[in-house]
Amino acid sequence: MFFFFVSLLSCHFGVRNTMRAPMAFVLVAFLTSCSSLASFDDEARTSVNDSSRTKSRSMTTDLSTSPFQLDDLTKLQQSLLFGEDDIAALRQSLPILEPQIEEILDVWYGFVASTPQLVQYFANASTGEPDAEYLAAVRKRFAAWIVETARAEYDQEWLDHQHEIGLRHHSTKKNRTDNAPSVPIVHFRYLQALVYPVTATLEPFLEKGGQSAGDVDRMHQAWIKSVLLQAILWSYPYVRAGEF
Ligand code: HEM
Repeated sequence: MFFFFVSLLSCHFGVRNTMRAPMAFVLVAFLTSCSSLASFDDEARTSVNDSSRTKSRSMTTDLSTSPFQLDDLTKLQQSLLFGEDDIAALRQSLPILEPQIEEILDVWYGFVASTPQLVQYFANASTGEPDAEYLAAVRKRFAAWIVETARAEYDQEWLDHQHEIGLRHHSTKKNRTDNAPSVPIVHFRYLQALVYPVTATLEPFLEKGGQSAGDVDRMHQAWIKSVLLQAILWSYPYVRAGEF
C-alpha cells in the first residue's frame, strides 16, 4: 500500500517550475494576512461554541455558526485577489474533477500516509497506529468538500461550514464526529503547509479535462486561492481572541 501511494505521488506531485513563484507569493500573502486581519468581529468568538444548529451540509447535527458575516468574507476574498472569474473557474472545474475524486483522494491520502508527521493525526492515540476507520470516515467528507469547493456557493451556510471544519481540526471538535480515539488536535502549522500539496497535486487532474492551457491555469489559480481562503477561515480557533 505504501509503495502504491509513493508511486502515485511521484506521478502526480510534479509541480511546474512556473508555478513556484506564484505559489510562494500566495503562501507569503497568507502568512501576512494571518497576522494582520484584526478587523474581524472577535466579540462573536465567545459565543461560537455555544451556538449550534442542525444543517444538512454535514453528517453530524452539532454544527457551529461562523463568527463572520458575508461582508467579512468579501473583504478577505478581495485581499486574496479572488473575484468573479475565480468563481467561474472553480465551477468550470467541477465536471472535470468530480469523476476523478477517488483518484485525487488517493494522491492526497497517499501523501499523508507516507509522511509520518502528518499520518500521526489519524493515529490511534494509544497505539500510534493509523486508524483505518477514522481515515475512511474522513475521506467521505473530504470527497464532499471537493464538490463543495468547486461549486463555490459563498453564502452564510458555507461560512458556517468553514468554521465547523476549522473546529474539527482544532481541539474543540477533533475526533468528535467519528468518535475517533485519535490525538486531540491537528497542529496549526501543518494546516497551512498542506495548502501547497493539496493544490499543486490538483493540476494534472485539471489538465485531464482537455481544456486550453489558459483555462487549466485559471482553474488552478482559483483552487489555490479558494483552499488558501478556507485554510485562513479554519485558522480562527487557533488564533488568540482579538488577533485574527
Ligand atoms: C489545506 C489543508 C487541508 C485541507 C483542505 C483539509 C481538508 C479536510 C476536510 C474537508 C475534512 C473533513 C471536514 C468535515 O468534517 O467536514 C478534514 C478533516 C480532517 N483533516 Fe484535514 N485538511 C487539511 C489539512 C489537514 C492536515 C495538515 C491534517 C493533518 C494530517 C489534517 C487532518 C485531518 C483530520 C484528522 C480530519 C478529521 C477531523 C475530525 O476528527 O473530524 N487535515 N480535512
